[in-house]
Amino acid sequence: MSGCCGPEGDGRYSEIFDERFASSLARRYLRRGPTAPERRIVDALSGLGLPGRSVLEIGGGVGELQLELLSRGAAETVNLELSDAYEEQADELMRASGVDGRVTRIVGVDLAAASDPGVARADYVLLHRVICCYPDFAGLLGAAADHARTAVVFSHPARNLFTRAAVTMSNAWMALTGRRYRGYVHSPAGMLAVLSAHGLSLTTYERSKRWHIAVAVREPAAVRAPAGGHL
Ligand SMILES: C[S@@+](CC[C@H](N)C(=O)[O-])C[C@H]1O[C@@H](n2cnc3c(N)ncnc32)[C@H](O)[C@@H]1O
Repeated sequence: MSGCCGPEGDGRYSEIFDERFASSLARRYLRRGPTAPERRIVDALSGLGLPGRSVLEIGGGVGELQLELLSRGAAETVNLELSDAYEEQADELMRASGVDGRVTRIVGVDLAAASDPGVARADYVLLHRVICCYPDFAGLLGAAADHARTAVVFSHPARNLFTRAAVTMSNAWMALTGRRYRGYVHSPAGMLAVLSAHGLSLTTYERSKRWHIAVAVREPAAVRAPAGGHL
């Protein structure tokens, strides 16, 4: 299924997240299963309760995270992608996992940019390794929160000198080579503030070397401070 294109759905994602990228993700998943951050996300959602729940994943790539959630009892998932390069690999993984019919894949709908995206709300909304690919974090996380009945889980890279320098260099390379894609290291406090403004409370915030993972739920909950005391 495909839909409208927002300003970010102009082909810049398919240029970078292409068939080669898709098959490397699928191969890696088939050989080694979920990555460490994916396991952390699955554990977080298992803790909230998966059986019978619906999941909307924004930027879910080949959909391996959704397969893991379905195998643990999630009822159905929807994948939104701005790159059209994942579909063949995603189909193969879905066939191999026997989840056909429980996954809906939508290409080209940008929840943050479309005025009427026509995407139903889900119990859980996920964004893994996505917010750092999108310029308008407030728009995307706000739309994610508004589509989440129960929780939003998202990962983002640590914001430090190293990641900022790496993204600056990568963006310079993209510009030099005429590509439109850019990466971002958004403010963690700014991103969490968006979820809070949309009625979600942070319940866990796990830091790791590469991907920090935030879980925010709709009902009021106590904040467990990130290790190290600050964001
Ligand atoms: C680094 S890839 C990660 C893919 C997958 N989540 C994973 O971890 O393997 C980032 C993906 O986010 C997608 N993306 C970025 N902004 C998006 C948006 N607003 N809606 C849907 N997909 C988006 C890109 O097309 C790209 O495939």
